[in-house]
Amino acid sequence: MAFLKYISESEKDTKQLAAKLGRALEENDCLALMGDFGSGKTTFVKGLAKGLGFRKKDYVCSPSFVILKIYRARLPIYHFDLYRLNREADAESVGMFEFVGAGGIAVIEWAQKVKRLLPKECLTIKFFVRGGKKRELHFFAPAPRLKKLVKKAIG
Ligand SMILES: Nc1ncnc2c1ncn2[C@@H]1O[C@H](COP(=O)(O)OP(=O)(O)OP(=O)(O)O)[C@@H](O)[C@H]1O
Ligand SMILES: [Mg+2]
Repeated sequence: MAFLKYISESEKDTKQLAAKLGRALEENDCLALMGDFGSGKTTFVKGLAKGLGFRKKDYVCSPSFVILKIYRARLPIYHFDLYRLNREADAESVGMFEFVGAGGIAVIEWAQKVKRLLPKECLTIKFFVRGGKKRELHFFAPAPRLKKLVKKAIG
């Protein structure tokens, strides 16, 4: 069950929401973003990076061809895009999980591909296209700390 749902009405709305969350995130937090093409995952990461103090305008984009991009912000951001990943085992073999819990913020697009490998203390956000510019974001987290943090930041 999602502990929080949010309806975004525009790209700007999604970015602002993500920026608020970015300001609140703490060392080692991991975000798993799940959802179809164009549902707003990369848009969300742009806002998140801004909230975390990353200032290079327009630099955040989908790392589809490189799997990982690192942004130097208040905390280092490890931005993964696993769209091109074929098997769960590949995430391990490319050393992906060395970046998760390594002192920064890990944010993983297409995280549904590595569901079973994700750390337990992970904030999962599912993105749904609801027609036009409407997107619905569902938040899941087993850890009370993350639930509290998210609710305080955007609830
Ligand atoms: N409410 C909204 N929130 C986010 N993006 C929106 C919204 N409304 C429209 N858009 C548009 O939808 C697209 C979202 O693209 P984005 O790259 O963020 O999706 P994605 O989930 O990362 O896709 P992919 O799986 O291909 O990486 C952008 O073109 C954006 O302008
Ligand atoms: Mg993307």
